[in-house]
Amino acid sequence: MGSEAETVCVTGAAGFIGSWLVMRLLEHGYTVRATVRDPNNMKKVKHLLDLPNSKTHLTLWRADLNEEGSFDAPIQGCTGVFHVATPMDFESKDPENEVIKPTIEGMLSIMKSCAKAKVRRVIFTSSAGTVDVQPVQRPIYDETSWSDLEFVRATKMTGWMYFVSKTLAEQAAWKFSAENNLDFISIIPTLVVGPFLMSSFPPSLITALSPITGNEAHYGIIRQGQFVHLDDLCMAHIFLYKHPNAKGRYICSSHEENITGIAKLLREKYPEHNIPARFEGVDENTEKVSFSSKKLRDLGFEFKYSLEDMFVGAVECCREKGLLPLSHEKKRQELVNGRN
Ligand SMILES: NC(=O)c1ccc[n+]([C@@H]2O[C@H](COP(=O)([O-])OP(=O)(O)OC[C@H]3O[C@@H](n4cnc5c(N)ncnc54)[C@H](OP(=O)(O)O)[C@@H]3O)[C@@H](O)[C@H]2O)c1
Repeated sequence: MGSEAETVCVTGAAGFIGSWLVMRLLEHGYTVRATVRDPNNMKKVKHLLDLPNSKTHLTLWRADLNEEGSFDAPIQGCTGVFHVATPMDFESKDPENEVIKPTIEGMLSIMKSCAKAKVRRVIFTSSAGTVDVQPVQRPIYDETSWSDLEFVRATKMTGWMYFVSKTLAEQAAWKFSAENNLDFISIIPTLVVGPFLMSSFPPSLITALSPITGNEAHYGIIRQGQFVHLDDLCMAHIFLYKHPNAKGRYICSSHEENITGIAKLLREKYPEHNIPARFEGVDENTEKVSFSSKKLRDLGFEFKYSLEDMFVGAVECCREKGLLPLSHEKKRQELVNGRN
């Protein structure tokens, strides 16, 4: 299953995960229809057009989760769909209409397009936020767990609208796939970290690199964190798309580490940054929480990257693209000296 001469559609193709997935699919010989909201915005799509094989195997299509039927055209004629797009705005002033509604309605609109086009398999990039957002963390999570949306809506922690949107979208997709006999698989990444192609700062690195940037609102998300390398995740998407026996939900996560451990790793690699050693409410005794990828490994998937590969890859890539000041102290000094 999964011939490399196939045409597949990737939604949210210009983003952090989408663009790396497109690169890997092109390398494997797939013809890719990449959906973006604005194909003419060169700042957002240039990294796709620059990919090897893009001239012969890549086309860009305009599609928006807010527009019913918007994905019909790019999906018609495809054998597979990778639904990656999602609104990731944690600062939204209108989360119900800007995040939750488009994620769920967009998911259903895409599922309808897939059913009409008789797509062979749909791979949905879900999120750990559908699994473990609960009042008390368990030591280990598997695919049977779902987040507690009453708790999420009552607590309104950073990213709450995203957790609600992804959970309800995935549940709606399971219902639709059962009722319409559509081959649907969800992949559940934990926090995705690594080097990347897009030119702007990726949303997940706002969280992952928060010990460097000092963005305290994001500390809670990695208090007891789990991580996967961007390349491992994209290879797992292709693996699950191709595997004849793949079925259901698959956690894709290779490492767990508390924020203190991440900060230690970053301090050792980048002593020039002012990275805290202590974080409120976390110490060496704080238990780690793990996400089990047993189901994915049992199917034959092997993870390639270490935690250090993820974080060093991400930091170096941000530096090369000018997205991360070399150090806070240096930045502050430059501002004092009147330079930007
Ligand atoms: N990164 C992580 O750590 C992580 C972890 C777990 C799950 N995920 C999941 O992975 C997927 C991709 O995330 P990412 O990290 O790659 O984020 P990203 O860089 O923000 O990519 C998301 C893409 O979604 C598109 N999008 C947003 N609103 C849209 C709309 N209304 N209509 C159509 N497209 C829209 C954006 O497209 P434009 O280019 O058109 O603006 C953007 O390129 C998401 O489904 C997310 O839930 C990510």
